[in-house]
Amino acid sequence: MRFYMVLLGLMLMSCSLALASDPSPLQDFCVAAPNTPVMVNGLACKDAKLVQADDFLFRGIHLMGNTSTDVGSKVTPVSVAELPGLNTLGISLARVDFAPWGLNPPHTHPRATEILTVLEGNIQVGFVTSNPENRLITKVIGKGDVFVFPIGLIHFQRNVGNGYAVALASLSSQNPGVITIGNAVFGSNPDVDGDLLAKAFHVDKNVIYEIQSKF
Ligand SMILES: *[C@@H]1O[C@H](CO)[C@@H](O)[C@H](O)[C@H]1NC(C)=O
Repeated sequence: MRFYMVLLGLMLMSCSLALASDPSPLQDFCVAAPNTPVMVNGLACKDAKLVQADDFLFRGIHLMGNTSTDVGSKVTPVSVAELPGLNTLGISLARVDFAPWGLNPPHTHPRATEILTVLEGNIQVGFVTSNPENRLITKVIGKGDVFVFPIGLIHFQRNVGNGYAVALASLSSQNPGVITIGNAVFGSNPDVDGDLLAKAFHVDKNVIYEIQSKF
């Protein structure tokens, strides 16, 4: 009986670890040390005695991103690369600016769930569930609305108005990662074979070459 209780306890422990996006910290903080050759899961810690308030500070999230991009949106990340104090804390954020009808194209964060808060404008948000249903969950949301994109699922945001829109995304990883579907599938280095993609997408190879030429 006791053996089974121990076994159950161990299983529950490993379960909670497996469900967490980023591992939990084992100290108050572990400010990312710049230029260390040490390879760990995350970034090595700066000497705690040398840590300053500025290590936990990022300035400028009020500044509008330049939305003159091919898709009309601009993401300003505040992850561990921009804010070293986030190292090991399992959290980060990003500002997303949208030109009128600007799009944050379909993408996924391999390591994070995302909570999006709309600060200005009307934004169509959506994500698609995994196989086999591939159900599209979508909605137009506005100022003050909060929407969640579950970890790993492909999602998008589009400004559905003639004005400017801005949102703040909170993410459950210090380093959520971004895989933009178009870039990964049609813009890889080197290209994925055209015949392969033609078969995968049920189209002529020339259609694939045309799309590849745009990424
Ligand atoms: C925004 O980006 C565009 C395209 O890269 C550039 O031409 C323009 O000068 C930028 N605007 C500002 C205000 O930086």
